[in-house]
Amino acid sequence: MIKNVGIIGGGTMGSGIAQVAATAGCMVTLFDVHQGALDTAKATLEKITNRLVEKRRITPQEKEAIQNNIRYVNTLKQLANSDLTIEAIVENLEVKKKVFQELESYVSDTCIIASNTSSLSIASIASSLKNPERCIGIHFFNPAPLMKLVEVIPAVQTSDQVLATSQITIENWKKVVAVAKDTPGFIVNRVARPFYGEALKMYEEGLADFATIDHALKSVGGFKMGPFELMDFIGNDVNYTVTHTVFEAFYNDPRYKPSFTQKRFAEAGYLGRKSGKGFYDYAPGAIKPVPEDNPTLLNTILDRILVMLINEAADALFLNIASAKDIDAAMTKGVNYPKGLLAWADEKSIDWCVDALDRLYDEYHEDRYRCSPLLRRMNAKNQTFF
Ligand code: NAI
Repeated sequence: MIKNVGIIGGGTMGSGIAQVAATAGCMVTLFDVHQGALDTAKATLEKITNRLVEKRRITPQEKEAIQNNIRYVNTLKQLANSDLTIEAIVENLEVKKKVFQELESYVSDTCIIASNTSSLSIASIASSLKNPERCIGIHFFNPAPLMKLVEVIPAVQTSDQVLATSQITIENWKKVVAVAKDTPGFIVNRVARPFYGEALKMYEEGLADFATIDHALKSVGGFKMGPFELMDFIGNDVNYTVTHTVFEAFYNDPRYKPSFTQKRFAEAGYLGRKSGKGFYDYAPGAIKPVPEDNPTLLNTILDRILVMLINEAADALFLNIASAKDIDAAMTKGVNYPKGLLAWADEKSIDWCVDALDRLYDEYHEDRYRCSPLLRRMNAKNQTFF
């Protein structure tokens, strides 16, 4: 039973994770090297919990309890009595390794040491420990208190016991767990790549403008945000870096090739909402572009992105990155897709998926359109995912 939770790093993610654990009744110790970060984390929690009381989501007593469950500290040593620690500091392998080594010298032998990393290998982080079996990836999504999904990533070194305890703990924190293999992008950041990549490619080809592509995904596909709106929301710098990191981690597999359009936008400082301009203009009074309303075009756009997403999800299953159930849960709970991609594939039919991919491949002769062997096998045997 995990009672004492240590969080390392009190920024966006660390403070959100602290709130989740404290709300579930754990005693949380939040450590950051910068006093300013701790002050901000405390003030933000105060604001958020006050708002939750106003909205009657929690009682004033619950608010008090959440706040009292978190202790803010400025030395790593004060995490010594933790049953579980989750690290959410700067995304730098060497820095993380150093912190993990120091942490291991303070905590008990049974303490689980987890990282919230989005892009580093858990195996490499674990290798810094004397006992790497206690290390695991526990990857929350931003904002942690709101997003239901948590990817749990055992490294090759992780013990079964540590995986089981981590999984139960996160479920007790009222989150949906998807267990993922320790591979680049885990589930969500891998499977979601074509949502951005194929949208950018269609724009580059001149098939449609940003607004029309977004309109297709939202009005026909049922997605909450279109790819360009979402890239502007995430930030073109951040989104480009994730794509580039995944591309490199897959030894430059053309399927994940980043886009020059997005690179140029990031270089120009057109980062999206945070800079006031991205694919769209966010200046007050800016005129919103009007999308084309041609049903054939809108369906073509949606089908092309959808089949690429399905192919990525099928390939993740083929390569045992996660179970079919967890892959679908990851995309609906981690990035709010309207349906699980594998369930969507069943609905469209596997035959439709294979045919759509083969047509794209025939047209472009590009490797990014290669159909997953799993889809082809399933089609030959008339199988479905669920
Ligand atoms: P952030 O920049 O908001 O916060 C990082 C915090 O760590 C800062 O307060 C900083 O003072 C502190 N810090 C840096 N070095 C430290 C050290 N050696 N010891 C203690 N504290 C230290 O970063 P953010 O966005 O919270 O990300 C943290 C981690 O979570 C990264 O590994 C990132 O990849 C991962 N992540 C981020 C997501 C996001 O959307 N921002 C989503 C999921 C994972």
